[in-house]
Amino acid sequence: MQVVKHINDIRTILNDKRKEGLSIGFVPTMGALHNGHISLVELAGQQTGLVVVSIFVNPTQFNDKADLERYPRDLQKDVDLLTPTACQLVFAPEPDEIYPEPDTRQFNFGTLEQVMEGKFRPGHFNGVAQVVSSLFEIVQPDKAFFGQKDFQQLAIINEMVRKLNIPVEIISCPIIREADGLAMSSRNMLLSPVHRQNAVVISATLFEAINKTGGFTVQELCKWVITRINENEYLNTEYFEIVDSVTLQPVKSWDEPCSKVGCIAVHCGKIRLIDNMEFGVMKD
Ligand code: PAF
Repeated sequence: MQVVKHINDIRTILNDKRKEGLSIGFVPTMGALHNGHISLVELAGQQTGLVVVSIFVNPTQFNDKADLERYPRDLQKDVDLLTPTACQLVFAPEPDEIYPEPDTRQFNFGTLEQVMEGKFRPGHFNGVAQVVSSLFEIVQPDKAFFGQKDFQQLAIINEMVRKLNIPVEIISCPIIREADGLAMSSRNMLLSPVHRQNAVVISATLFEAINKTGGFTVQELCKWVITRINENEYLNTEYFEIVDSVTLQPVKSWDEPCSKVGCIAVHCGKIRLIDNMEFGVMKD
């Protein structure tokens, strides 16, 4: 496995590989890799001829400076984790390589970015779109793999690819959970032992809520989830919404003819965690 830091080098390598007829699978990451990332890499390995993983903590998508500073970084550990996987090429640029000058592009994702993460993290999705569009331009992958844990991010990236006509297929990959149900996330490694122990209440509450859709209205269930989680002294819910999986707008009734996803953000001490689960699939 090769680790490359410069755009010119990765372009040269990938041009040669394309000439050999290999299709390119791309897994963009911010490092601090875990088994959720590895599952994306393995899927990319099954579907494409050459897997590229980028490791880049993108400053433009952090609306909170402290969050950017504390974001875990350990390139060697990530490289060690990727070595036995399907990944053949790691692209790990420095910020100046991606942003030789400030990126002033403004994307407009309309109502998709006005809810949930977009509402609570202003500028976040603009930063995600800046970096992912730049990385797509550099790597020019045939397929790119993203985890469903960042459900809204996936919707934004699909919309960006559609709007900009980027010739890449976006593959949406299932959430991978720890044995106790907590959604895998790079931020989990920042949790203190007691916060990690209590973080499980988030997914446990969502799993319980899925079985309550018969007895509660949507609004009652949202309230029940928030109250239940906030009863835990280590947790503070920022939002929980049950939304249409395509428009991301909150649903008002279980009868609405759409697939529904419950999306949540919870502060666990200083660490902000997100998760989501299906709350009903649309019937044909
Ligand atoms: O999901 C992430 O890790 C990041 O938002 C991404 C897509 C790598 C862009 O920096």
